Amino acid sequence: MRKLVDLPEDDSVNNHELPLRDRPSKDKTGKSIKHDSAEKHVTGKAVYVDDMPEYPQQLHVAVGGSQYAHAKISKIDLSKVRSAAGVVDVITVKDVPGHTDIGPVFPGDPVLVESVCEYVGQPIFAVAATSHELAKQAIRQADIEYEILAPVLTVEEALEQQHFVRPTHQHQRGDSGLALTQAQHRLQGEQYVAGQEHFYLEGQVCSVMPTEDDGMVVYTSTQHPTEVQKLVAEVLDISINKVRVEVRRMGGGFGGKETQAAPLSCISAIIAHRTGRPVKYRMSREDDMVMTGKRHDFMNRYDVGFDEQGIIHGAEIVVAGKCGNSPDLSDAIVDRAMFHSDNAYYLNNATVTGHRCKTNTVSGTAFRGFGGPQGMMVAELMMDDIARHLKQDPLTIRQRNLYGVEHQHIRLENDEIDPRNETHYGQTVEQDVLPELIEKLAVDSNYWQRREDITAFNKQSPFLKKGLALTPVKFGISFTVQFLNQAGALVHIYTDGSIHLNHGGTEMGQGLFIKVAQVVAEEFQVDLDRIQVSATDTDKVPNTSPTAASSGSDLNGMAARDACLRLKAGLFKFAAEQYGVDEAAVRLENNHFVIVTSCSSESESEGEFESEGEFEREGVKECVVEGEGSDTSSTKEQWIPFADFIQQAYMGRVPLSSTGFYKTPKIHYDRQTGKGHPFYYYANGAAVSEVLVDTLTGEYKLMRTDILQDVGRSLNPVIDIGQIEGGFIQGMGWLTTEELVWNEQGRLLSNGPATYKIPAVGDTPPDFRVKLLEDRPNGEATVYRSKAVGEPPLMLGISVWSALRDAVSSVSDYRFSPPMNTPATPECVLNAVFATDAFVSQSVDVDIDVDKPASRGNKV
Ligand code: MTE
Ligand code: HPA
Ligand code: MOS
Repeated sequence: MRKLVDLPEDDSVNNHELPLRDRPSKDKTGKSIKHDSAEKHVTGKAVYVDDMPEYPQQLHVAVGGSQYAHAKISKIDLSKVRSAAGVVDVITVKDVPGHTDIGPVFPGDPVLVESVCEYVGQPIFAVAATSHELAKQAIRQADIEYEILAPVLTVEEALEQQHFVRPTHQHQRGDSGLALTQAQHRLQGEQYVAGQEHFYLEGQVCSVMPTEDDGMVVYTSTQHPTEVQKLVAEVLDISINKVRVEVRRMGGGFGGKETQAAPLSCISAIIAHRTGRPVKYRMSREDDMVMTGKRHDFMNRYDVGFDEQGIIHGAEIVVAGKCGNSPDLSDAIVDRAMFHSDNAYYLNNATVTGHRCKTNTVSGTAFRGFGGPQGMMVAELMMDDIARHLKQDPLTIRQRNLYGVEHQHIRLENDEIDPRNETHYGQTVEQDVLPELIEKLAVDSNYWQRREDITAFNKQSPFLKKGLALTPVKFGISFTVQFLNQAGALVHIYTDGSIHLNHGGTEMGQGLFIKVAQVVAEEFQVDLDRIQVSATDTDKVPNTSPTAASSGSDLNGMAARDACLRLKAGLFKFAAEQYGVDEAAVRLENNHFVIVTSCSSESESEGEFESEGEFEREGVKECVVEGEGSDTSSTKEQWIPFADFIQQAYMGRVPLSSTGFYKTPKIHYDRQTGKGHPFYYYANGAAVSEVLVDTLTGEYKLMRTDILQDVGRSLNPVIDIGQIEGGFIQGMGWLTTEELVWNEQGRLLSNGPATYKIPAVGDTPPDFRVKLLEDRPNGEATVYRSKAVGEPPLMLGISVWSALRDAVSSVSDYRFSPPMNTPATPECVLNAVFATDAFVSQSVDVDIDVDKPASRGNKV
């Protein structure tokens, strides 16, 4: 009889390698392994939705959008669209069989406009034609008349009119009003932090295929397959089990594909359902930029009271997000801005208020950091302003205000020392990483020496000014909506010993698939190349959360580990029975099952398994004498190659497939009281950036950046460093060159790569040093004590903005803290220079006035 499955011989000896059993399994967790698709990415072999072979009869979609920011449709005539060349179907909201509102959390996102358009570009009708070009051409034949309504286009207008998508929310700790009036010093400030386009390399795209029983298969580029599945079912008015969504990979998501991918699949599915034909919808870059959501702009204000040392005693902070036309995820995003408006600093008595402004612009949505970055900006503004006011180095002020840094003179009423570790929303900061991390980075980057050198340089350089800033990041890890903090996985072991892994997380370039595969390799102590990860698929793991909030590896890594533990439990039990040993005598090592038997029980341990002799490659045996002298009991280890043992287990009818599940412990948040423990833990990091500014033109260059990031015990250091480098550059781009420009009518003018400048290779600092904080495993029991890394590094980009302010401030000999909205384009920096010049020429003794926001240098 032939073997169950042919197994390759161990030819390690022929390859001059160690025998397999003496070689540790390859590429487990903690090893730096390149992205599993790295070669496919660079050779073009990685398949994205647009690379999939087209189906016969496939239709292509284009969508006609509103011409006005706020208008009622008074007449719509699509007859010319219908008769245009190549057109097969045209739909409006009337043609939607089921739900017409696809808002992810709250209603407000019609799949196609009912009667009132709320932003320029909002989809009104969709055309399916035999080619993308013909569909695009047909769109222009529409005859639509509008009754124009007054739009609300800015945060200021929305605040004035109390025009909100969701109610205002507040966090309160202690008595901020009293603290402000009693403080030795008090400052106020304001900033406008503009939004950001995701600019994923792969734009929004999907391809759908109708199936029998009125079902639908959807291939799409989304971070949230389960939500696409649910919404497609809802618009078609069918049950969720008839829809299958598959995502192999995205060419970047960055939050832009958490909710914004779904409308494409919904529209395509409606057309596929009507026509019975496969449908593809790939947005042009311009449509993508105009029609899909981006990072929220925020208008932030602070009022802070502090002492001689610059230590904050109380603060009142208001953050107001520009949410666009619908709630989308804005409630959670503005919450996260509020949660991070302290960044890493103890505010003591604090009131933080978050407004959700409704504007007639495209809905703001998730973007790496999810409101956190915008919230942190106000904390860093405050730090710089306090420092200038007290004529101290900003780093000193930052260090003094960090959580957990005890100051003897700050005593509570009962004379106890304030531990200074409770946030304004009641969560205690337990892992005291930042004080040490910042100290280490300051030393490694030679901060204090460079500060002296830069001050000296600026004194003798009339126009070129250098700036330096060290800014920290403390980022809360968990979805702030508790129920999303769960994940599932599915692991199969096949009879050749190969392992199939699937989980609810999606791959967008961040390296999630390889990290979770490494977890499985670790659990089974097998080589990583034994594990195949398959596309995320709603048929394999159901009811998943979006891959977001940086929680992908925390959640799915643990779910996969759970599946492995269940499989191992069955396998170990079987091994124990089979070899007549305790389960404790079975272990996995070096691609083998190892069974420890005492030498005397040798006879029992063999031959029980009725294998009909096909397992000839019975493990190598050996007697090991333990504890020379006193303990003379000898043990024998039987080494059975992984695959051989799996075949035995299969013949022994042991389950070789398991699901796994995980939910994050410890988290809770009561939105009524604004108190709780919304984050399982915090990820920390800090960056030091040095810039050179030409104060005659406002142009500048980032010269050097040093980063130290806390990733706990890294699952894969090179992947983590890639995330840190990419996140930093993306954050820097957001705060410097990426400028969204809308005209007076609310139309986006910066709608392509020629007018919207993301950072390029030349913008990376010539001296870029990224390190992981060593020997700091996560204090919480995450997967192998690692920490999330996806979003936190984006906020390290704030160091560039702060360094630019520092350089400009040098013009006033650091007496003036110049207003600087973002993006700090050269134009904006030049305005800050003018404001600083004005301060210098007016004043010798005038107090610092940070109360005046900059003229909107970034608005055209
Ligand atoms: N890295 C790449 N290359 N591409 C992306 O789209 N998205 C970021 C981050 N890093 C992103 C990325 C965002 S917004 C999040 S929330 C996390 O990855 C999601 O993945 P993770 O949870 O597995 O870290
Ligand atoms: N982060 C990212 N995405 C989310 C969150 C969050 O906290 N909550 C809901 N979607
Ligand atoms: Mo990331 S903004 O949570 O997708």
